[in-house]
Amino acid sequence: TSYDFYTGSHQVGIATPPQRHCIFMTFDLVAGATSKDLQVLLATWSAAIAQLQAGRTVGQMEPISLSAVATDTGEAYGLSTAGLTVTVGLGPGVFDKRLGLAAHRPKLLAPLPALPSESLDPKLTGGDLSVQACADDPQVVYHAIRDLARLGRGVVEVGWTVMGFGRASAGAEQSTPRNLMGYKDGTRNVSTEAQRAEFVWVDDDAAWAAGGTYQVARKIQMDIEIWDSATMQTQHEVFGRTKVAGAPLTGTREFDTPDFHATAGGKPIIDPDSHVALASPENNRGLRILRRGYNFTDGLNEAGQLDAGLLFIAYMNTPEAFIRLQTKMGRSDKLNEYITHVGSGVFFVPPAPKPGHYLAEQLFG
Ligand code: HEM
Repeated sequence: TSYDFYTGSHQVGIATPPQRHCIFMTFDLVAGATSKDLQVLLATWSAAIAQLQAGRTVGQMEPISLSAVATDTGEAYGLSTAGLTVTVGLGPGVFDKRLGLAAHRPKLLAPLPALPSESLDPKLTGGDLSVQACADDPQVVYHAIRDLARLGRGVVEVGWTVMGFGRASAGAEQSTPRNLMGYKDGTRNVSTEAQRAEFVWVDDDAAWAAGGTYQVARKIQMDIEIWDSATMQTQHEVFGRTKVAGAPLTGTREFDTPDFHATAGGKPIIDPDSHVALASPENNRGLRILRRGYNFTDGLNEAGQLDAGLLFIAYMNTPEAFIRLQTKMGRSDKLNEYITHVGSGVFFVPPAPKPGHYLAEQLFG
């Protein structure tokens, strides 16, 4: 599979069925960068991404002149496109006074407020730009990130990154994968175009933003070793689902609809503080977000424990959706005992450019 960068209304990598691997990286504009610098960067990245997604090198990999420096670093040469998608977002800092773009700020783009149950590492927060690269081959993913970082030198410096190694979300017609807690993740997700029209794509903002969306990225650490010593009953109660089948505790099959009113012995079968009870649209006035998460590991932590978790990436037409969910879940989710949010960023993902144009071009008109 290969995805055209100039797809029409939306960037790829959002509605695209999740590929197996993903790297997420943020970038910050260097001090003194101007809107012209940002314009050139977005034009350069757009052209490069179009090449990468088509499986071509970005410029020369082996220049004829031996005194020249190669543009493409080469490690993806000979590999297939592996379904690569590169999705670019703009952080709140792009629209502050510095660059003179404040009048174009997407209406709802602002840094996330402090939320319950997070312990953010300042080194893993924010960002002026985000790049999400996903593909079925980790080397293709890495090459895309590396060559875009290289093209950005002098204008942006790298911020924070998470290297996901396996998908933990499902799109329509995909089997549901498992997160590192061993549970199926992505069973009930935004997966149809009608749902995306309602919950994901922005349609009530300036013309340049139409068809865009907001991206919330969180690096969520799991206390894997504590989780692994929890009893089966506890694990079931935490999610409100069974492990092997991924069924709600009130059903037997994965896609059975959970019944949050069912009781046994006077107690709700699905605990009201379980993850799915707190997150489900039934208990949030119909609210939904598109989750596109990946498992990650950073090896071992300083205490010699397994260091791993979930790279949570979600898309929505208002960041308020995430804020509302996390405000509620951060207070009482049974899952909180086993996870900590350590990284965070919010970005506006502009629509895809038309052929011959580049991302967010109208900002610079
Ligand atoms: C559902 C795991 C963090 C929002 C689920 C499910 C699992 C899961 C196993 C049930 C299967 C499914 O329907 O996909 C996790 C893990 C997390 C995490 C391991 C952290 C490490 C979050 C966060 C949010 C969130 C931070 C949003 C603030 C949701 C939503 C659902 C869901 C909206 C669907 C609920 C439904 O409609 O029934 N998650 N999740 N999750 N999660 Fe999470």
